[in-house]
Amino acid sequence: MNTVQQPSLSTDKPLDIYPHDGFITRQMRNRQTGHKSGVVWLTGLSGAGKSTLSSLAEQYLFGKGHLAMVLDGDTLRSGLNSDLDFSKQSRRENLRRAGEVASLFAHTGHIVLATFVSPFQEGRRYVRDIVRDNFYLVHIAADLDDCIQRDPKGLYKKALSGGIENFTGVGQGYEPPEDADLVINTSQADIADCVKQLIDFVSDRFSIE
Ligand SMILES: Nc1ncnc2c1ncn2[C@@H]1O[C@H](COP(=O)(O)OP(=O)(O)O)[C@@H](O)[C@H]1O
Ligand SMILES: [Mg+2]
Repeated sequence: MNTVQQPSLSTDKPLDIYPHDGFITRQMRNRQTGHKSGVVWLTGLSGAGKSTLSSLAEQYLFGKGHLAMVLDGDTLRSGLNSDLDFSKQSRRENLRRAGEVASLFAHTGHIVLATFVSPFQEGRRYVRDIVRDNFYLVHIAADLDDCIQRDPKGLYKKALSGGIENFTGVGQGYEPPEDADLVINTSQADIADCVKQLIDFVSDRFSIE
């Protein structure tokens, strides 16, 4: 797989691009759905519980008739981002595209539950700057030993036997966020309790009754 090629940028030539604003604003969409929209960015080690908790929260919100959608890092990497590897440059491009996609869905009125390991503070700040409005960082925390034991995709086993270079928690570190809006510790509470924490947070921040 190739590292993404950066387009060559010319500063002396003006770009003939004029974004067009339609008649329907984000506020109008929010009035129609009856709740705010934005991005809940779930960060944490592989196996911490990001996918488990976000899909249960999505199911709950959908059941209540709300617009909610999981945007999963691995899913995006098998489609839109399938041209990217795990080099520094590609990781950044992965986040840039994820941030832009999440932002688009937020503009359509969705509550986006974005699940990305996003191990570094710098990358998470980058994505926060792209999304800006109604961006919340949720740290799905878990003890590394628990994640290794759970190993839902067998990736720790593979990484620990040298099969995956720079795997977060094994060959590469994870920087716990200092600016998380919420921390859910899945080593200390069961799934039902953790989902409730996530749903309560989302309901509060997005004005869901
Ligand atoms: N309190 C908890 N919250 C979330 N998942 C938990 C919890 N306790 C155990 N698990 C298990 O941990 C695993 C988490 O996997 P997953 O959600 O795919 O993680 P991630 O998306 O963060 O890589 C699942 O097998 C899930 O059943
Ligand atoms: Mg996952």
